[in-house]
This record gives sequence, C-alpha cells and structure tokens, in this order.
Amino acid sequence: MALHKLTVVSHEIEFQLPSNSPITDIEWEAGGKNVIPLGCRVGACGACLIKVKVGFDALNPRNDDEEAFIELLGYSGEEYRLACQCLIRGELAIEVIG
Ligand code: FES
Repeated sequence: MALHKLTVVSHEIEFQLPSNSPITDIEWEAGGKNVIPLGCRVGACGACLIKVKVGFDALNPRNDDEEAFIELLGYSGEEYRLACQCLIRGELAIEVIG
C-alpha cells in the first residue's frame, strides 16, 4: 500500500500515512500529541479546521455540508478543510487553524 507524506507546517512535523487514510490518524502516530484538535469527528464542530498549503488534489473533495460549515465559520476558499472529513491520497502539507 502506498504511503503519503503529510507535513503539519504549523508544528514542523511530518507523518507517513497509507493512501485513503483519514488524516486524523496522525493522532496515533504522534504518540498522544494533540497535533490536530478534534471534537465531534463528524464535521459539525469546527475544532479540526485546517488550511491546505500543498496538495489540494491530494484529498477527497469537499462535500456541500463541509463547504457550507466552513463558510459558516467565516472561511472561504477550497484550501480550508475540516480535517475529520479528509482522506489522504497524495503528498500533503497543512496548517492547523482550529
Ligand atoms: S472534529 Fe468536529 S468538525 Fe472535525
């Protein structure tokens, strides 16, 4: 299975995740460090808001609910994502906002 590099720019830390893994799986790789804040894990609280710096196409697309909720939080642009809704499919760099 292919591994993809995920860089968390805001924490200067890198992970390797299998293709199509939820990017929130880094919590298991980080030895208990809370790299991405998590709340509901279903796209409803906004705790896990991230900004994609590199690799917009390396994630599953946003659905309408995710896009609408991010706009409700005051952010617009395809670079903003809810980490709990993201599956990695290529090399990615993100900044944690939430
Ligand atoms: S953890 Fe609540 S929106 Fe992602």
